[in-house]
Amino acid sequence: MHHFQYRGNTLFCEDIPIGTIAEAVGTPFYLYSHATLTQHFRAFDGAFEGMNHVTCFSMKSNSNQAILNLFAREGGGVDIVSGGELYRALKAGVDPGKIVYSGVGKRAEDLEYAVKSDILMFNTESSQEILRLNEVAGKLGKKARVGIRVNPDVDPQTHPYISTGLKENKFGIDIRKAPEEYTRAAGMENLLVSGISCHIGSQLTLLSPFVDTLSRLKDLIQELDRAGIHIEYLDLGGGLGITYDQEEPPHPKEYAGAIREGLGKNDLVLILEPGRVIMGNAGILVTKVLYTKATDEKRFIIVDAAMNDLIRPTLYGSFHGIQPVDDSGRDKFKADIVGPICETGDYLARDREVEAFEPGELMAVMSAGAYGFSMSSTYNSRPRVAEVMVKGDQYYIIRARETYEDLVRGEMIPDFLR
Ligand code: LLP
Repeated sequence: MHHFQYRGNTLFCEDIPIGTIAEAVGTPFYLYSHATLTQHFRAFDGAFEGMNHVTCFSMKSNSNQAILNLFAREGGGVDIVSGGELYRALKAGVDPGKIVYSGVGKRAEDLEYAVKSDILMFNTESSQEILRLNEVAGKLGKKARVGIRVNPDVDPQTHPYISTGLKENKFGIDIRKAPEEYTRAAGMENLLVSGISCHIGSQLTLLSPFVDTLSRLKDLIQELDRAGIHIEYLDLGGGLGITYDQEEPPHPKEYAGAIREGLGKNDLVLILEPGRVIMGNAGILVTKVLYTKATDEKRFIIVDAAMNDLIRPTLYGSFHGIQPVDDSGRDKFKADIVGPICETGDYLARDREVEAFEPGELMAVMSAGAYGFSMSSTYNSRPRVAEVMVKGDQYYIIRARETYEDLVRGEMIPDFLR
C-alpha cells in the first residue's frame, strides 16, 4: 500500500491534495511520501529480522539527502558507486561503518576518500582495482576491508540494460576465477579480505535467480574456507522488482524467506542493497498538461515534464502509470504523453489509454521514485525540477527547483572570445 490515493475525485499524497502542492511549488516536481518510504524501508529491513544484516540502501536510485537521512535514522546504511555518492551520504548523516562501495571504475582519488572515511567494505571488481586499493590503503597507513564482487553467470530474466550478472556483462570477476583472486588479495599487506558480493540485475520478478546465485556463492565461500580465507560479509546486492503495471514480484518477506532458507545456519553478516523496491512506489512525478493535439494517426498530450526529467520510458521502454490528479470520471482515449524536448524519444507513455486530459490539468506519473530524479539531466537547458516530501498534512521542499543561473554555473567564455 502506498500513500498516493484518491479521496473523492482528488489525488492525495498522504493528507494533502497534490494540486495544493503544485500551486505552491509549480510544475513539474517529484513528490515522495514519508509514510510510504518509512513503511517500505521497515518492510524490507524487518523481513531480515533475526538475521545479522545491514540494509544498505542503493542510493543511485535516489540520492536526495533528506531521503538518505530518513533511512539512516531507520538504521540503514548505503551502497555507493562514486566519490560523489560518498560525499552525499556522509553529509546526510549516514554511518560510514554501514557504507559499501561497488563499481567497475573506482578512481584512485575516490578509493582514497573512501579509505580515509573508514567505510565498511569495498566490493572490488577487477584484479587491477584490488592492487590499486592495496596501494592506496598502504599510502594512508590503513587496512581496507575487501570483498570481491563475483559474476555468478546467472540470468536474472530482466531487461538487458539492467542485467549485470551474466558472463558477458562488465561487472564483477568471473566466479570461476575468484579463488585465485582471493588468494592473491589475501597476500596483500593492506587489505582485510573478508567479503563476497554480487548484484545480478534489477527489477527481478522471480526468486529463482537470487536462490541460484546464493547457492553458487555459498559453494565459493566453502571453497575459500578450505583455502584458509574466511568470509564474514555476504553482500547479495539489490534487484528486487516492483509493480509498475501488472508485474507480480515477490514480497520482501518471500525474498528474505528464500535467502534465509538458502543460507542455512551460519555466522555471516548479510548485506543487502535494495534501491527500487524501497523507492520506486514511494514517489511520483507531477506534471502539467500544456497542450493536446491530434493528427490523423495519433493523439498527443504535451506536458511540461520531459525525458530529461524521467528517462526510463525512452531508455528502457518502461511503463509508468498515468493518472489524473483530478479524476472526474471522463471519457478515455488513446494518446502519447510527450514532453517539450526536441526528440522523438521524448515520451512518458505511448499509445496509452488515458483520461481525456485538458490543457492546464495536472497529471501524476506513477512509480517514479527510483531512478527518476537521480537520472535526470538538464538537456535542452531545462533546469532540474523540485523534489518535495510529504509527511501527514505538511509538505517540505527537499530540493529547490534549479534556476537559469544554476544552468550556467561554472561556464566561462575564454578571454580570446571576448
Ligand atoms: N547494488 C548494485 C551494485 C547495483 O548496481 C544496483 C543497481 C543496486 C544495488 C540496486 O538495484 P535495485 O534494488 O534498485 O534493483 N536505471 C535502471 C536501474 C539500474 C540499476 C543499476 N544498479 C532503471 O531505471 O531501471
